Amino acid sequence: MVSSKEIRKKYLEFFKDRGHAVIPSASLVPENDPTTLFTGSGMQPLLPYLLGEKHPLGNKLANSQKCFRAGDIEEVGDNRHTTFFEMLGNWSLGADSNFKEEQLSLLFEFLTKEIGLDHSRLSVTVFAGDKSTGIPKDEESAVIWKKLFGKDAKVFEYGVEKNWWSRAGAPDNMPAGEPGGPDSEVFYDFGTSHDSRFGKECHPNCDCGRFMEITNSVFMEYQKQDDGSFAKLKQRNVDFGGGLERIVAAANNAPNIYDIDIFQKVISGVLSSAGVIHDSSETIPESNYPLGPIGNNITREESVRAMRIIADHMRATVFLMADGVIPSNADRGYVVRRLIRRATRFADKLGLKPGTLSSLALPVQEHYGELYVELKEHGGEIQEEIAKEEARFRETLERGLKEFGALISLGQSSFTGKNEFNLYQSHGFPKDVMKDLAEERGFVFDEVGFDREFKKHQELSRTAVAGRFQGGLADHSLETTKLHTAHHLLLGALRKVLGEHVHQKGSNITAERLRMDFSHPKKLAADELKKVENLVNEKIREDLEMAREEMSREEATQLGAEMEFGKKYGDTVSVYLARSKEGNVFSKEFCGGPHVENTGELGSFRILKEEAVSSGIRRIRASLQ
Ligand code: SER
Repeated sequence: MVSSKEIRKKYLEFFKDRGHAVIPSASLVPENDPTTLFTGSGMQPLLPYLLGEKHPLGNKLANSQKCFRAGDIEEVGDNRHTTFFEMLGNWSLGADSNFKEEQLSLLFEFLTKEIGLDHSRLSVTVFAGDKSTGIPKDEESAVIWKKLFGKDAKVFEYGVEKNWWSRAGAPDNMPAGEPGGPDSEVFYDFGTSHDSRFGKECHPNCDCGRFMEITNSVFMEYQKQDDGSFAKLKQRNVDFGGGLERIVAAANNAPNIYDIDIFQKVISGVLSSAGVIHDSSETIPESNYPLGPIGNNITREESVRAMRIIADHMRATVFLMADGVIPSNADRGYVVRRLIRRATRFADKLGLKPGTLSSLALPVQEHYGELYVELKEHGGEIQEEIAKEEARFRETLERGLKEFGALISLGQSSFTGKNEFNLYQSHGFPKDVMKDLAEERGFVFDEVGFDREFKKHQELSRTAVAGRFQGGLADHSLETTKLHTAHHLLLGALRKVLGEHVHQKGSNITAERLRMDFSHPKKLAADELKKVENLVNEKIREDLEMAREEMSREEATQLGAEMEFGKKYGDTVSVYLARSKEGNVFSKEFCGGPHVENTGELGSFRILKEEAVSSGIRRIRASLQ
């Protein structure tokens, strides 16, 4: 197994030998940047230099940057997502016009010669162009890649949702002044078989786990203007980032990043604490992972997910704490609290002894201590803090259980959103634990009520620092994506229940709720609302696939795909179909995404309000629980 230390070293030396100054990693807590809670990419600390300030070490830089993305917390558990990761970066600030050629050739040399990745396993993607901003297709990168790979070249094109990079995501989401640009990614093909739950055909950006994005070269040369248009930045920049853990997995041809050295060390720590004898010199087979406390078995799949979550969350916790983030109820502190609480819940699922988590800090500190000395400097404190937080959480659970017992003895009528939320707020008793326990005892947990209270509270306490950028506290992304999919189902249901005259006239989706304006001449009756709500829930239960298809605008119109009046669409459009396994299409809409893969992920759908907007236009607000 090639080690992560070796790959990191090779990378930094490679770029150093080619004129890049190696700079240290910045802290996970950003300095002078109120827009985001955590450093989530290598470019973040370099923003002033990408905008034109001179960097003291010159215009070519490289490093390995500690990154944390809270927005990925729910994704952890598959073969490649983590909250914390190291991003190998390189930058050319104020580059010449041949910046693409230079960057892509260096990268090709690094990947194929320096670390020896097999050509035939690599695919690349380039920007397809974007009609609404007028930013052209990146023909140049495609030509360069074809030259580098020769007859092996596998070059794919994607639009703004995949091949455009800025801190805020797609061009539409960028605030004025924000730099961004088209990017070109490299994917490693593990050759595993395609999982059809993720779509009909596999392709580099498919989420089935066969392909893994390993690097991203951003050609940062645009800036959003006050009027929403895009102009060239005053300098051209290369902003490259590659996930170290993923590159190490590729270098070992290991289709799962949890097989690489660092995670194996943490997993070995978990197994030792559980008294499982294993050979830690080899990749530990997943069949060795515990299956829960006796009498309460979990499936193999759940066990693997739990182990990955624990390994990820504990590594992230150690790094965050080493940068001074300690558990609390606000902002960054809350994120660490959440990591430890989640890890505790999953440790319980595996049947680990209470108190195990703090012992997992040590393998992390030992593995990284030489390079990231802060992990060692705060060694004992970190372990103590983790132990304290786990213990605090267990006390909370215990206290909460007592209060919860009182709700139980009062019966179903005490399960109101207010009571439940009070229990959560005063004792930190987690919603999912409460819900599990209530349901085990045959009570219906009022989730709608709980969420309503939660939202009220959140609105009051939201601070400016809860950044809207990708690196920020963006748990929002998954919630918003789910509501986006629910939005499609809602339009489909309205058209089925009320008739084909219903078309979308406007929409707004936040992490908490969706809002849709649509054409309909009169107020909806209570039974119509109920029918619509039930139909959406039925489609959720049917677990329809959200299939994305690209086609010409004409084809999409002929197909009868819904489009929102007044919105501009390009010549090639993407259409999302909510489709059953038998191929029955419930909804089809012009849409750029993102969506969940299957509607089964949405939970339960509730209409909160129906009202008039103007003559002939109604508005529905709805949420998911
Ligand atoms: N900033 C880009 C990214 O995060 C490349 O480093 O992917």
